[in-house]
Amino acid sequence: MKITVVGAGAVGATCADNIARRELAEELVVVDIKEGFAEGKALDIMQTSALCGFDTKVTGVTADYSKTAGSDVCVVTSGIPRKPGMTREELIGTNARIVEDVCKNLLKYSPDTIIVIVSNPMDTMTYLALKATGLPKNRIIGMGGILDSSRFKTYLQKELNCSQNDLQAVVIGGHGDTTMIPLTRLASLNGTLVSNLLSEEKLKQVSADTMVGGATLTKLLGTSAWYAPGAAVATLVESIVRNERKVFPCCVFLDGEYGQSDICMGVPVVIGKNGWESILDYHLNAEEQEAFNKSADAVRSMNKVLDTLVTV
Ligand code: 2OP
Repeated sequence: MKITVVGAGAVGATCADNIARRELAEELVVVDIKEGFAEGKALDIMQTSALCGFDTKVTGVTADYSKTAGSDVCVVTSGIPRKPGMTREELIGTNARIVEDVCKNLLKYSPDTIIVIVSNPMDTMTYLALKATGLPKNRIIGMGGILDSSRFKTYLQKELNCSQNDLQAVVIGGHGDTTMIPLTRLASLNGTLVSNLLSEEKLKQVSADTMVGGATLTKLLGTSAWYAPGAAVATLVESIVRNERKVFPCCVFLDGEYGQSDICMGVPVVIGKNGWESILDYHLNAEEQEAFNKSADAVRSMNKVLDTLVTV
């Protein structure tokens, strides 16, 4: 198994670190455009090999995609992260060009790869990757919902004083401060609905905190987060490379599912060796479907901006 991570910034390097520690591949290549940067991060990670007990061989390269040849999975984290006060959507102009270029380069050397998109605005970058590469839809997956669901679990755990590992909690919709939808109705603690354990007011607060989970960190850190994004990517990649068939909310191309078409958005999918294999229907109620449709409107208007920027 060979995996490539493009972008050796905080998110990309943390993805690489998690992927190496979990030994998801024999070979892991990190790519960056900044001279020597990926080489440095890869070498640093390799020097934890004996300490952490993994045998994945990590190498770094400066913009040399030939070294990524034959990758089974490629993770794209390239682009600029947001600064405090910025939305993910404000990054579109810069990141669209970068993501299109990176995906085309990856495909040149790894025509059978599965591509995981992390760059923001993630839903639009996933749509762009699909259109720009022409890959079958199952091989393009946007990572946002797993991360948002993990943030949802963190805020629920604070209220419930429980283990996050006992929680089932899913965020669907867009990966934006106003477009994500924490499904509070379905959240449960080992078989008990959380709505039976927390007041409506508390649940509303948890939901609101989840939606701005990334923005809260950006404010604290001065840039966007990396530990949870890196771990979320590795969890997704693990289900692909080990063919675990786990269900995660991921950004995938919709063709009528959840009432939407020609758009990439977060819905629950089965993740296995072929990428995303099927979409689960959570049977949204009227209120949730309305929120999903509104989220789709926002993502679609962001996708329209692509027409003015790139040649998809
Ligand atoms: C986040 O929400 C990087 O979009 C990512 O932290």
